[in-house]
Amino acid sequence: MRHPLVMGNWKLNGNKQMVNELIAGLRTELSGVDGCGVAIAPPVMYLDQAKHAISGSHIVLGTQNVDVNLFGAFTGEVSADMLKDLGAEYIIIGHSERRIYHAESDELIAKKFAVLKAAGLTPVLCIGETEAENEAGKTEEVCARQINAVLNSQGADAFNGVVVAYEPVWAIGTGKSATPAQAQAVHNFIRNHIAKKDAAVAAQVIIQYGGSVNDKNAAELFAQPDIDGALVGGASLKADAFAVIVKAAAAAKKPDDLS
Ligand code: PGA
Repeated sequence: MRHPLVMGNWKLNGNKQMVNELIAGLRTELSGVDGCGVAIAPPVMYLDQAKHAISGSHIVLGTQNVDVNLFGAFTGEVSADMLKDLGAEYIIIGHSERRIYHAESDELIAKKFAVLKAAGLTPVLCIGETEAENEAGKTEEVCARQINAVLNSQGADAFNGVVVAYEPVWAIGTGKSATPAQAQAVHNFIRNHIAKKDAAVAAQVIIQYGGSVNDKNAAELFAQPDIDGALVGGASLKADAFAVIVKAAAAAKKPDDLS
């Protein structure tokens, strides 16, 4: 079912002490808060530790990448089954940092999407345009192409129960978030684009916004009808700021408000 989801993308940050302290802080700050899904995506080597630390709370475990291969001679990679074994549920794929620094193509990301679905894990499919593409008026074209890589190969049904994160590349880590109106327009475009294939699937897909979401701008973003929570980078490393964002999402929309 569509519901707000706030997920912390910790990226390449953390150590054993920080994992324990940050999760302890989140547990305190978020106790009694409901109406919003909460997930954290630590680096893979801390998944087991994080799984223990969140035990008994509403926080769900995720992570930041997966390999397309299931097992075998693929040095340095991590499979979907391994992530599942460690208790991860929401798996970020297609983040612009992987598209840019690791040359990940739309086709490769679509394969990762399929591998996660087959393993019973939930893809968090990141899409979004660069600053140059934005300035050239290509935002919708780029988002459609990135969605189509999955839609055309796996069908609209593949979007049942998954998360899409619209993250304009120019807004990530820059302190320059999209305005609520800008983000809403793209979220609405994404939902309509999927709806052209299947309206029911489009109505339930969670579409998060990501890119410089913080404790100050979250509430305004979440007030938009097609923004279902956020994928949060920098502000997810501070328990108090992350908790403000979760509370803003919980206050903006209750699960029952959404179909
Ligand atoms: P940011 O990162 O919140 O630091 O801009 C968001 C992301 O990359 O998912």
